[in-house]
Amino acid sequence: SEAPQYENILVSRPDPSVVLVQLNRPKALNALSSGLFKELNEALKIADEDGSVGAIVLTGSEKAFAAGADIKEMKDKTFSDAYKNNFLESWGEIGRLRKPVIAAVSGYALGGGCELALMCDIILASPTAKFGQPEINLGVIPGGGGSQRLAKVIGKSRTMELVLTGRNISAKEAENWGIVSRVVGEGEGEVVKEALTTAKLIAGKSQIAVQAGKEVVNAAYDLNLAEGLRFERRIFHGLFATNDQKEGMAAFAEKRKAQFTHS
Ligand code: CAA
Repeated sequence: SEAPQYENILVSRPDPSVVLVQLNRPKALNALSSGLFKELNEALKIADEDGSVGAIVLTGSEKAFAAGADIKEMKDKTFSDAYKNNFLESWGEIGRLRKPVIAAVSGYALGGGCELALMCDIILASPTAKFGQPEINLGVIPGGGGSQRLAKVIGKSRTMELVLTGRNISAKEAENWGIVSRVVGEGEGEVVKEALTTAKLIAGKSQIAVQAGKEVVNAAYDLNLAEGLRFERRIFHGLFATNDQKEGMAAFAEKRKAQFTHS
């Protein structure tokens, strides 16, 4: 079937096992318009359902991962519009993807841009990355999950400061606070390169185990500890029904590299 044509994103296949999605509205610093988000959801869904894809990388430009929801599109919205159409509800689709999504963040990741990064499974940052929730300056609050996801990741006091002052934090601060897994070296394209390397590494594992790993880590955000431990153990038990478990453990015992069949 023909690959869809997009206006606001670029989709490529830097490796047979990895899809790279690049937000591409440079004139608006990748502001997340409804058109952009529709295309993003479609491209991510296609990648998620493609059996040959093991991981997805999401990035923006050197200047901006994304500068937030599209303010010009939002400014005349009424409460009735927002409520009736459940504004931003479609942003939740990213949370239903089963394949890992790695955010490679350079430049501004503000408002919805910060929230989009937080929806991803791993965040790598370039030293130029700036994270923040500036919605307070627009007379609103985060609407794409920022208050909830940040509170779980960096705690109450830091989240309150970001949400109530709207101040941006640097890549270094985001790393110290645990928002990003690491800050990579300087240099144009470095963070995307590093994210692609990580994606390829993950894509070489058993896809079933990777999917299970993502599922159980995410459960830690929804379940209490006792339920989470039980859920993890049950999923772990279930993996003994897979060929990849047999192959992975046999390969270790035979001192050879595992050949996973994702079955
Ligand atoms: N929405 C729409 N357009 C945006 C945008 C946004 N979020 N952010 C930037 N742009 C546009 C600018 O309007 C400008 O367009 P024009 O050339 O047509 O004027 C263009 O992108 C370039 O931006 P700037 O000239 O402002 O660039 P800068 O380098 O001087 O500043 C910036 C960069 C500090 C990121 C600044 O653009 C900015 O503050 N942007 C808004 C950030 C923001 O408030 N984000 C939160 C949005 S609300 C939200 O996301 C709600 C939610 O929780 C879902």
